[in-house]
Amino acid sequence: SSSLFVVVVFLLLAAVARDACALTRSDFPEGFAFGAGTSAFQVEGAAAEDGRKPSIWDTFTHQGDSPEGSTADVSADQYHHYKEDVKLMYDMGLDAYRFSISWPRLVPDGRGEINPKGLEYYNNLINELILHGIQPHVTIYHFDLPQVLQDEYGGILSSRFIEDYTAYAEVCFKNFGDRVKHWVTVNEPNIEPIGGYDNGSQPPRRCSYPFGTNCTGGDSSTEPYIVAHHLLLAHASAVSLYRQKYQAIQGGQIGLTLLGWWHEPRTDTPEDAAAAMRMNEFHIGWFMHPLVYGDYPPVMRHRVGSRLPSITASQSEKIRGSFDFIGINHYFVVRVQCDEGNGPKLRDYYVDAGVQNLGGEGFDKEHFQSLPWALGKLLDHLKLKYGNPPVIIHENGDGDSPETPSKIDYDDDFRSEFLQSYLQVLHMSIRNGSNARGYFVWSLLDVYEFLYGYNARFGLCGVDLTTAARTRYVRNSARWYSGFLRGGELRQ
Ligand code: NOJ
Repeated sequence: SSSLFVVVVFLLLAAVARDACALTRSDFPEGFAFGAGTSAFQVEGAAAEDGRKPSIWDTFTHQGDSPEGSTADVSADQYHHYKEDVKLMYDMGLDAYRFSISWPRLVPDGRGEINPKGLEYYNNLINELILHGIQPHVTIYHFDLPQVLQDEYGGILSSRFIEDYTAYAEVCFKNFGDRVKHWVTVNEPNIEPIGGYDNGSQPPRRCSYPFGTNCTGGDSSTEPYIVAHHLLLAHASAVSLYRQKYQAIQGGQIGLTLLGWWHEPRTDTPEDAAAAMRMNEFHIGWFMHPLVYGDYPPVMRHRVGSRLPSITASQSEKIRGSFDFIGINHYFVVRVQCDEGNGPKLRDYYVDAGVQNLGGEGFDKEHFQSLPWALGKLLDHLKLKYGNPPVIIHENGDGDSPETPSKIDYDDDFRSEFLQSYLQVLHMSIRNGSNARGYFVWSLLDVYEFLYGYNARFGLCGVDLTTAARTRYVRNSARWYSGFLRGGELRQ
């Protein structure tokens, strides 16, 4: 009988230990929001319908600049399927949906007249979400600048952008702020200047960098910094307007969402370690330093010199503290090594940082990696260096590139595995004091992917691109996510 007793005690302890380790959503802080995301250009379609005018991404795709000449004219056609999509979210048990408003749909000429059909569409979408108990997290600007503003004055390169952006943001606050309680001013302002004005991979494709393809003029030594500066000032201006006129009445929160690559050294030499830290300063600190301390990081000031715009005292005052949360889109670790550029000096962003990006073309798995612990390091970095701001993981997810992009594919267990390993790390970071408040899978659906067209699929749910009906189908990962949101355990 004493051996029976030992066995019983052992089984009891094992059960307690298993329970203690198995994480469920109730182990995340109260009010923590779980969701999924998309962006207007990538998912809406209806590109020329109901008064929408082109954005710089329509121009880019129509010039044949995306893979296989793909466009987002129809993509997942959410414009006509929003009710069905909200139903999918509801069935999945999402707390929140992150989407963006198309500036050229809401204010087609970039400024002035509001398009009543655009207003109606976003009102319908928001109402449908609210009706289903799903919080809208709305990005005001997600890469799709009205083409007319590009043509008229050079888009974000001109400081006129700040005024037009602020007026457009006000249209959003005024019309939707009674129901939208989470605003993102700008998505990934730390990559658009590089893609559009340095390596030329995205519109308006300006760059003087010799490896950039099809670029039309530009000066990579200055323009990315000017564009980022204008995005930062536009953000701060919209936040200050929101705080003065809307926040107290509407009771929402406002922030901006950064791309959160985490840079790691290639070797354990002190030079490479310092190079990785410099690159994190260039990539994250570029916005976080001004937002928290009111100026660009000293290492950027030092290296970029007079090519980095100055932040005046009054601008600094407006920028510092201009966020209620920071959104983070996290996918990769980028390996870097120190490279002080002894050869002919290319004055691009990485050269300024004295860093060689070993990411290479496409997804070179050896250097451009998905490693869940990196999310922990990034959250620690935000905690230690920037005063532990409230953080929302606004994007995290895994894309695949099927040989036949239109193939219907339900089996994406790799995606469920990926998400679980990140959620484990996220939970650990929260236990260690990180101020994370939400987690959004990128993406709800297969969408038009910037740079990859339809060759990269990130969706929890698939979209049948071969039929005009654009039928949605639920992948295994969506079923897994739904199970977790309803109390299921995370894999250990
Ligand atoms: C970043 C962007 O915000 C989003 O538009 C894109 O599709 C995903 N990451 C995946 O690359």
